Amino acid sequence: MRLTRQQTEAFEREGYLFFPGLFTPAEIQVLQHEVPNLYAQRRPENVREKTGDVVRTNFAAHMYSAPFARLARHPRMVLPVMQLFDEQVYMHQFKINGKAAFDGDVWQWHQDYGTWKNDDDMPAPRAMNVAIFLDEVNEFNGPLMFIPGSHRLGVLDAAHDTSTTSYPLWTIDHATIASLVARGGIVAPKGPAGSMILFHSCLVHASTSNLSPWNRVSVYLSLCAVSNHIRRFKRPEYIAHRDFTPIECLPDDCLLADYPVALPWRDGTPEPALKSAAAA
Ligand code: SIN
Ligand code: MN
Repeated sequence: MRLTRQQTEAFEREGYLFFPGLFTPAEIQVLQHEVPNLYAQRRPENVREKTGDVVRTNFAAHMYSAPFARLARHPRMVLPVMQLFDEQVYMHQFKINGKAAFDGDVWQWHQDYGTWKNDDDMPAPRAMNVAIFLDEVNEFNGPLMFIPGSHRLGVLDAAHDTSTTSYPLWTIDHATIASLVARGGIVAPKGPAGSMILFHSCLVHASTSNLSPWNRVSVYLSLCAVSNHIRRFKRPEYIAHRDFTPIECLPDDCLLADYPVALPWRDGTPEPALKSAAAA
């Protein structure tokens, strides 16, 4: 999949691209089917909501689940990022966010690069997220909200919020958000399961809680240009990966055909990958 000039220009201007219904229902079903098995596992990669036993985010499923290992090498997700960076990419982070019906909590306003810089010492914002919806996203189930054009301001001041939700995040204060929104407004891409969003790592974003009866499971691949790999290994490897090998894409039908993939963490996560501060 090659982005057109119009798309690359829109990305430069707005900081994101939205592809409604890019993956077919049959492709999405393969992934959806796997999520309850992953969320049921008692492993550190499942971070639960503050309020209970509901999974907020699952990390690194591409290391222990075959369908997600194939998704991590999917050309529809990986090639547009390689095109924008004009470089090969490696997997910095892989997560499946639950945003469960009734229980899914907020994600505060933030830039992803704020966390990648502060925690992981990633040299430049040459990494980005590609999200795929496993459920329909509508106005009620906590869609991702963007402030268009906010990526052009670079890295904004942020504070480490360790208390609002069960997951620590470098967040942006309300006065800054109010002035950014006064300039750029807010958009919330909505669409059927199978839709994909690609967004710049400095794009300011957030999502509200999910009080609806509909889950909003989405997968995020955070792909980083290989030359821009992280320098500090403060966070555990299952959150910020340390294997900087370029991703080799599988064929376009990889969600429906049985291509072999390595699953190195299938029998458990190796001890060093669970540690929060290995030697850098
Ligand atoms: C994120 O910003 O990392 C996740 C936001 C969401 O899933 O709503
Ligand atoms: Mn984010």
